[in-house]
Amino acid sequence: MHTPIPTPTYIPTLPPIHDYGIAIVGCGGIVNYAHLPAYRTHQLTIVGCYDRDPAAAAHTAATHRIGRVYTSLAELLADPAVTIVDIAVPAWEQRAIAEQALAAGKHLLCQKPLAEDLADAIAIAAAGERAQRYVAVNQQMRWSAGIAASADLIRSGAIGQPTDAQIWVSAETPWHMWPWLRDSDHLDVMYHSIHYLDSLRHLFGNPTALTSRHARYPGQPERAETKTITILDYPDGLQASVMVNHHDASRATAATFRFLGTAGIISGTIGSMYDYPHGRTDTLAYARHGDELVDIPLTGLWIPDAFIGPMASLMHAIQTGTDPITSARDNIATLQLVHGAYRSAHEGRTIAPDTLLS
Ligand SMILES: NC(=O)c1ccc[n+]([C@@H]2O[C@H](COP(=O)([O-])OP(=O)(O)OC[C@H]3O[C@@H](n4cnc5c(N)ncnc54)[C@H](O)[C@@H]3O)[C@@H](O)[C@H]2O)c1
Repeated sequence: MHTPIPTPTYIPTLPPIHDYGIAIVGCGGIVNYAHLPAYRTHQLTIVGCYDRDPAAAAHTAATHRIGRVYTSLAELLADPAVTIVDIAVPAWEQRAIAEQALAAGKHLLCQKPLAEDLADAIAIAAAGERAQRYVAVNQQMRWSAGIAASADLIRSGAIGQPTDAQIWVSAETPWHMWPWLRDSDHLDVMYHSIHYLDSLRHLFGNPTALTSRHARYPGQPERAETKTITILDYPDGLQASVMVNHHDASRATAATFRFLGTAGIISGTIGSMYDYPHGRTDTLAYARHGDELVDIPLTGLWIPDAFIGPMASLMHAIQTGTDPITSARDNIATLQLVHGAYRSAHEGRTIAPDTLLS
């Protein structure tokens, strides 16, 4: 006889007050195909946008019917209608914008990675604390259907004590969408696997040891690592692995997750990675040990639907006085895994991530 299948709660919800004025800094790809479509669905209040490329700002304003295009960051920050600044620029531009916006009294949603340099990320978190303003980081995979539903099942005890977690992605990633990444010193872990590492922290907490190996694909145009394997060890024996290959030219690409425990298993797919950024809905199946896996239907797409999650969490923080779920301070621990992975790969050894600068 089958045990009843639980119904996970996973769809992001907005707090009661959600008409804060939002201004966008950086009007590139992700803002146009993810941030703004998600905000439009939830009828958030976008008061204006700014990009150092005026054509990008004008195009975004016209496409998404945004009433005001600012001609400078200073003009945006001087607008009293703006409560939240939503930053989506390359990571190395983020700290300067964040510090000015916090000094102007704004709350922030920053893009991931919060910074390429751990010290810059810590400086942004500290600036938020000094200004007594909230800084959330757009690690929105936590709100994607597959991960959010898994989190709810794991917290309800559906798999018992977690023992093994695997995220395996083998895909052909359209790196041409981010020309500025081609010559970057860091690629997969800093810009992509960061989502998986952050999701694993969300599901299982902070590992005590990390081992990572990095490689390149023959003849790849990108400068940095596009194939990585990272293993996280937890004190209770839980082992988690993230295996990623961004150069899979086969017709058998895959993006899967599998969370095994003493009492059950969750197995699913990351829909977004099957045709980025269009993607498809995540899948998820669950079984208690001894039972057959049963599909639990999910709705929504990581891109754009999960993008309401970090913004909703920031708004919740503003009105309740509690930290956002993906606060800048929380994100330091995700960045410790990212930097731990590079150090581990570089030095050929296992790293204790919490010994990195914090
Ligand atoms: N799933 C995700 O969370 C996800 C996906 C893609 C990109 N991103 C992140 O979002 C950010 C933007 O990525 P994108 O794909 O939109 O890049 P993009 O190159 O398409 O757009 C970036 C925009 O920022 C503008 N810009 C750069 N520096 C600026 C500055 N100092 N002031 C104002 N505008 C500035 C550029 O002119 C450009 O229009 C990056 O940090 C990237 O890592 C996150």
